[in-house]
Amino acid sequence: MTVPNVKLNNGVEMPQLGFGVFQVPNDETEAAVTAALDAGYRSIDTAKIYGNEEGVAAALAKSGVARDELFITTKLWNSDQGYDSALRAFDDSLSRLGLEYLDLYLIHWPTPQRDRYVDTWRAFEKLLADGRVRAIGVSNFQPDHLRRLVDETGTVPAVNQVELHPYLTNEAVRATDAELGIATEAWSPLAKGGDLLAEDVVTSLAKKYDRTAAQVVLRWHLRLGNIVIPKSVTPSRIAENLDVFGFELTDDDVASLSALERGLRTGPDPDQFN
Ligand SMILES: NC(=O)c1ccc[n+]([C@@H]2O[C@H](COP(=O)([O-])OP(=O)(O)OC[C@H]3O[C@@H](n4cnc5c(N)ncnc54)[C@H](OP(=O)(O)O)[C@@H]3O)[C@@H](O)[C@H]2O)c1
Repeated sequence: MTVPNVKLNNGVEMPQLGFGVFQVPNDETEAAVTAALDAGYRSIDTAKIYGNEEGVAAALAKSGVARDELFITTKLWNSDQGYDSALRAFDDSLSRLGLEYLDLYLIHWPTPQRDRYVDTWRAFEKLLADGRVRAIGVSNFQPDHLRRLVDETGTVPAVNQVELHPYLTNEAVRATDAELGIATEAWSPLAKGGDLLAEDVVTSLAKKYDRTAAQVVLRWHLRLGNIVIPKSVTPSRIAENLDVFGFELTDDDVASLSALERGLRTGPDPDQFN
């Protein structure tokens, strides 16, 4: 299974489809990540707050996959924001992951009330300059947070990972990302696998292409140019979610899926979450 790469704004290549491990308990993470690596995933998305960086490490160590074929992302938790605390949090995550360098480090949430994301970003710039991480980015940043970061530091994030699926198309964020040269990465790309996969428009497209509902939704993301990181602990779904490169949606299909937009968040509002 060949997953296309997206070229980030600093030239680093990132797989357009990866594997997310939110809410996978640490002791189940090794099995899930092993199933993903066996299926052919090479990009893994974790975070300090998921509490499963060690489980990811165990799977990576046993996999025998060369380090330079892997793309590993983790995220800085809100309480670690600030210059010195961010540098410490990075060292701790890297050590839990058993890695010598990271591919992508993200500020998990802007937490605007805390007002520390610019200081945090300066620590991220240092980690990048020191070669400890290949690319730096943000998560859940709204357009005004992105513009402030760029205005005050001059360093444009490589990636903005945001909640994004047909129920929440996040047009304003996607437009700002595109304008600034930031790759948009979709979290909860399947809207957590609930009602979205039972929508008539989704199931009828699945029938039309002889694919599953999840595959249709993932194909919609890929057509929009989003990076996606579906999560599953079910080996058959792990394989299914990667098998999305053998069919294409038409422009009308894409438009009919985008019309499901209803501003529905499955997670917190980034302007409020602290
Ligand atoms: N930056 C952030 O703030 C943030 C927030 C949330 C998530 N994320 C990242 O985004 C990743 C994905 O988001 P997510 O885990 O919230 O949601 P998701 O990937 O949209 O959906 C995961 C859910 O869908 C089910 N599922 C997966 N594949 C399926 C399929 N082919 N058919 C039917 N159901 C399927 C899974 O069930 P089973 O596991 O039981 O198979 C699970 O319950 C996370 O793991 C994490 O890495 C980031």
